Amino acid sequence: MSYQETLLSPIKIGTRECQNRFFIQAMECNDEDESGNPSEQTTERYATLADGEAGLICLEAISITRESRARDNQLMIMAPNREPLTKFVRRVKDANPKSLFIFQLTHSGELSSPDFSRRVTVNPLYGYGGELLTEEEVDKIKNDFVLAAQIAHDAGADGIDMKLCHGYFGSQVLRPYNSRKWKYGGSWENRSRFAFELYEDIAKAINDKNFLIGSKVSAWEGFPGGFGTEGPDSPIMDLTEPLSLLKGLEERGAQYFVQSAGSPGITISLTQVDKHIPYYAYLNQYWAKEFKKILKPETVIIGSNMSIFRNGKNGLCAVDPKDASLFSYGSKCIEDGVMDMIALGRQSFADPLLPKKLREGKEDEIKWCTVCDNCLELLIRQTPVGCCTFNKRFTDILISERKLHGKLTESHT
Ligand SMILES: Cc1cc2nc3c(=O)[nH]c(=O)nc-3n(C[C@H](O)[C@H](O)[C@H](O)COP(=O)(O)O)c2cc1C
Repeated sequence: MSYQETLLSPIKIGTRECQNRFFIQAMECNDEDESGNPSEQTTERYATLADGEAGLICLEAISITRESRARDNQLMIMAPNREPLTKFVRRVKDANPKSLFIFQLTHSGELSSPDFSRRVTVNPLYGYGGELLTEEEVDKIKNDFVLAAQIAHDAGADGIDMKLCHGYFGSQVLRPYNSRKWKYGGSWENRSRFAFELYEDIAKAINDKNFLIGSKVSAWEGFPGGFGTEGPDSPIMDLTEPLSLLKGLEERGAQYFVQSAGSPGITISLTQVDKHIPYYAYLNQYWAKEFKKILKPETVIIGSNMSIFRNGKNGLCAVDPKDASLFSYGSKCIEDGVMDMIALGRQSFADPLLPKKLREGKEDEIKWCTVCDNCLELLIRQTPVGCCTFNKRFTDILISERKLHGKLTESHT
């Protein structure tokens, strides 16, 4: 099969069909209005992605409360946001009703910015801290997630991604480092309780077989006590708990998973592979394959860290560049059963129209992400985010931020 045929072939997720194998990653852009509603710029961004014909588009992390934000201008999903979100989804669907659109629900926990949110923790981590959460407060967070899922459903989203990755609350509670003996910590049974009960509550509250439910999961956070390690003080990888999580969520109705890794404030190169170490991308295919091995064949696995592959000009050695491009290597991963869809994060900023260009045979017009990571720097600086290589507006923001505030000192994302 040619890579065009593989990548442009449809795939079912639950009862729904994605028109092709391209998934657009959740990418925070910090450009929403003061009530956390999508701005004109936000709306245009997603309408353009839909016009670009990706099979499945994930909305950037949307905060379930005002006090759980990591970004000053982050999207929020509470009762007052229902109507603006409904209008927003309609605009995106008008651009192309065939692209499925899901919302990534999040609570930032210890990554909530103390400047404008409330930093809370299940067990204070060195360099982070935060107010220690009580069991009642975690029960309340769970209810807020359920309400947010209902609002996403009412607003017309096709599903949700219950965020369990990158060191946000959903992954903090799962980690072995959450070793405090309480309802939500200590044993694996207690640490997995939050995610498992949440899925059960959401399924009960929404009760719609056409509404997709899944999660983006960091397979290995890569620091002592992080998710996917042997224990509270060990960085050594052990996939027993991540795989048990996936199995348990699948039993509770998850139809897809986005494989990811790392916790960007601590282990950034695992989450966003850096152009100086492109071969880290291969680790992700190992995790995706481990995920696929234990799940039902119909559960869709989406592989991350694909932007680095570009058009084959990516610094990967010992392989012919024509076999190491996003298209040829991505389609090989699908054909080999490593993953079912390929995810585009930074590449979706560089060229939101990539899937359409591939379908129309206009590959030579694709703008390839240079993996400069200036988009990430904008995010860390809490400014609006976009591609600094192909959009002068964002280059200008970056230059003026550097002039005003100097070099970047904070590494949290
Ligand atoms: C500016 C920026 C914003 C991001 N926002 C999110 C987010 O909201 N949710 C999430 O799960 N990951 C987020 N990520 C991580 C990406 O979704 C993705 O996992 C990572 O960039 C690796 O994929 P890529 O190589 O295709 O870029 C963000 C990354 C960047 C650079």
